[in-house]
Amino acid sequence: MMTFQGNHILSVSQLDRESITRILDVSAKMVPYSTRQKRCYVLEGAILSSLFFEPSTRTRISFGTAFNLLGGFVRETVGEENSSLSKGESLFDTAQVISGYSDIIAMRHPKMHSVAEFAQGSSVPVINGGDGANEHPTQALLDLFTIQSEMQHFGKNLDNLNITLMGDLKHGRTVHSLSKLLSLYKNMSITMVSPDALRMPDSVLSILDDAGHKIIQTDKLEGNLSSDVVYQTRIQQERFASSGEADLYRGHFSLNKQVYQDYCKKNTVIMHPLPRDSRPEANELDNDLNDLQHLAIFRQAQNGVLVRMALFALALGVENKLTDYEKPITWHTTK
Ligand code: CP
Repeated sequence: MMTFQGNHILSVSQLDRESITRILDVSAKMVPYSTRQKRCYVLEGAILSSLFFEPSTRTRISFGTAFNLLGGFVRETVGEENSSLSKGESLFDTAQVISGYSDIIAMRHPKMHSVAEFAQGSSVPVINGGDGANEHPTQALLDLFTIQSEMQHFGKNLDNLNITLMGDLKHGRTVHSLSKLLSLYKNMSITMVSPDALRMPDSVLSILDDAGHKIIQTDKLEGNLSSDVVYQTRIQQERFASSGEADLYRGHFSLNKQVYQDYCKKNTVIMHPLPRDSRPEANELDNDLNDLQHLAIFRQAQNGVLVRMALFALALGVENKLTDYEKPITWHTTK
């Protein structure tokens, strides 16, 4: 099992099945805090530096929320243009400086492998919040947590599942990281629905192949959605040379209520890392599915808080001290 305390979390390749089970178990322990039944102040006084050099809503806010829910403070910078990277400072120098201010760092950057480069200069653990088209390990972990919790309703676990990955599988870092994690489980059947030009990279396919999983690659949605989980993705416009090139692929595999009724199983769970592109020309996941019980996208986003809390607790060595540092909730919300 991976040693978490004091270590960076840069890639899902660092994780074996036992490490993942540990992360998912610690994540489940965070529910009373994320649902505001109790407060936890085990990280009181600790500082997270949150460095997001690429746009984000969920990952950035949920990292910060997760750290706050464990009692820690968050400092952040958003956008390369607002940091001294724009003045030519290297990632190494930035890491040397910021790690001196912090106990842990979460970072997103548009360049592949940049977070690992940054981590080389950091004296504190760095968690990868997404590095270009490469990886998004915390998203993959929250996706796995979501698959596990959704499948429990049907008496299933993380083995023996049929999963459809759909959309921009070439540039989508969430499906790259998730596929690598799925390779650790048994007897999976993975159907990949994408335009030919946006197929899953060979490097990821070979990992699934080595795991003995059945892989189907297709550019047809019809007949390929009767899975336990359909994981839809957005055309990653920001990874194309031009917006015009991305336009060629938008709207190809729109999933709506009619498509669900025609091609999914009765209980197929729909996931999406979000953001979904709701513009009419894309609309990969239609709002007419919002009332579908098996649409898991908002539960999935909420699970991001749990998983990121768990990673902070593990990296800072407090995962077994949570209950020693609890307080009652003193305020009321409408929840
Ligand atoms: N899923 C995800 O990474 O969302 P954000 O880009 O909003 O962080």
